[in-house]
Amino acid sequence: MAKRRYLVTSGLPYSNGRLHVGHVAGAYLPADTFVRYLRARGDEALFVCGSDDNGVASLISARKEGIPVEELTAKYNARQAKDFEGLGIRFDIFGGTHQPGFTDLHNRLSQEMFKTIHDKGYFTKKTTKQLYDVEAGQFLPDRYVKGTCYHKLPDGSDCGYNEAYGDQCESCGHAIDPIGLIDPLSTITGTKPEPRETTHWYLRLEAFEKRLLPWLEGKRRPSDGDPAWRETVLNFTLGQIKQGLPERAMTRDLDWGVPVPLDDPDAAGKMLYVWFDAPIGYVSFTAAHCERTGSDWSEYRRWWKDPDCRLVHFIGEDNTVFHALIWPAMLMAEGTYQLPRTVVANSFLNIKLPGQEEQKISKSRGMAIWVEEYLKNLEPDPLRYYLTAISPETSRTAFDIDDFIARNNGELLNALGNFVNRTVTFTHKHFDGAVPDPGERGPADQEHLAFIAAQKEKITACLDACRFKAALSELMILARAGNVYLDLKKPWAQRKEDMAACGATMNIGVQTVRALAVLMAPFMPFSAAKIAGMLNIPTDGEILPWDSSTSELVAGHPLAEPEILFRYRSI
Ligand code: 2FM
Ligand code: ZN
Repeated sequence: MAKRRYLVTSGLPYSNGRLHVGHVAGAYLPADTFVRYLRARGDEALFVCGSDDNGVASLISARKEGIPVEELTAKYNARQAKDFEGLGIRFDIFGGTHQPGFTDLHNRLSQEMFKTIHDKGYFTKKTTKQLYDVEAGQFLPDRYVKGTCYHKLPDGSDCGYNEAYGDQCESCGHAIDPIGLIDPLSTITGTKPEPRETTHWYLRLEAFEKRLLPWLEGKRRPSDGDPAWRETVLNFTLGQIKQGLPERAMTRDLDWGVPVPLDDPDAAGKMLYVWFDAPIGYVSFTAAHCERTGSDWSEYRRWWKDPDCRLVHFIGEDNTVFHALIWPAMLMAEGTYQLPRTVVANSFLNIKLPGQEEQKISKSRGMAIWVEEYLKNLEPDPLRYYLTAISPETSRTAFDIDDFIARNNGELLNALGNFVNRTVTFTHKHFDGAVPDPGERGPADQEHLAFIAAQKEKITACLDACRFKAALSELMILARAGNVYLDLKKPWAQRKEDMAACGATMNIGVQTVRALAVLMAPFMPFSAAKIAGMLNIPTDGEILPWDSSTSELVAGHPLAEPEILFRYRSI
């Protein structure tokens, strides 16, 4: 197949806290798995991420921690980058929308896009009443205000959630206009805000409904090898368009962010809405990457404006409206960019601690499994494995500590690790550590080789469709089949009667180990690299070419010493 070119992004994490397993399962691990798979297939891929530094979320956290917002965002940007590194989530660039070395390009590209959209007439400038905190002396956009949600539920009753923030109601999921909140309170001073007039620029989303609708409809069955979008994303976005897309303010009264680039006294002291500049972070980090790798920053166009490059966004489900409606509308409005080819959204992850009920992840209630803590004691691959095995691809799932341990011991250790270990150890012991001669292959041997090829095809099809959980399950079927094959052929008995037959069995055992190493590499790169080391097979950088999963290691090829792959765990 001809080499394809991809730009893959993961939703930019807010740099106002640490990463937990829910973040990893949502937007980062599946993206990393996908990129590793693409590269193994020989496709070109650029993997871009960085922190979302602007906006109210960072300001609130900085206030809580009593440090300047620049310090806060730099601190968490660095900690998150370390977490990703520790998990083997390897972006080509991890930038930040307000990090030294990135801000200038980011502001420039964000302001350029805002200006272009403005000049094309897609903003309405409006003066409306917004909530103002008299004590703090400032307006209260987004999370600076809390109150009771004013939305109706589908059954006609009131949502009535009384902890709704001024950007979105976490109970019914609707976007919130803070001025509509019932009994609003400032989250800065706790006082009741008053309405005051202010001017903002609103993106006329309705102008794009006619283009967004067929574009999204086409994602049910895309052409050109792109995967169908998940039903959850399509149902949500198409439903929103059918209801009509309201205009959304793309500017804010804040003193932190990207300044509104208009020569208009009403724009003075205003910033772009964080959800306007955040996705442009994907572009500005691409530009920064181009600059840092020896070409000009303007080479980002090769990734963003060339129809040959496929743009794929991985996100958490709460980001769907921004990536599958507003961002494409911004790109349509700007006019020179390619639209996303695929938006892959995952649901949230709950947590289930031993002996407790399943619960939502919550920073304030201390209900989270932090990546930093996990990596202090445990290896990355069991977590990568577990988070893919329970991936919330279609609905919420739970990280269950007992299940994590059971799968580590039962699936990674007993099935996969044991198969690799017994094969390599036996070959060392009885065949001087060299791949034995395949000899005459019987029906069971041929069948097993055909099974490897069939599993490879299944895993490939699942990964092409971004169905990571299913792909991993097919991989484990292959690992179990390896054990079943050895149990059937009994090389320990064959050895005593017919060394050639025993060699034929172990030859196939080694070919299976090789297939597993290649096919598991996108999911568990550290363990795959260890197996590649044991098999003494070359890697191209970290890459094990996908098709090498079904090409055989020749007789006589020397293996290296076996290594421990997975460890037994208990609580
Ligand atoms: O939900 C979040 O964590 C946002 N910071 C995601 C931003 S994604 C993008 F558009 F930058
Ligand atoms: Zn609500």
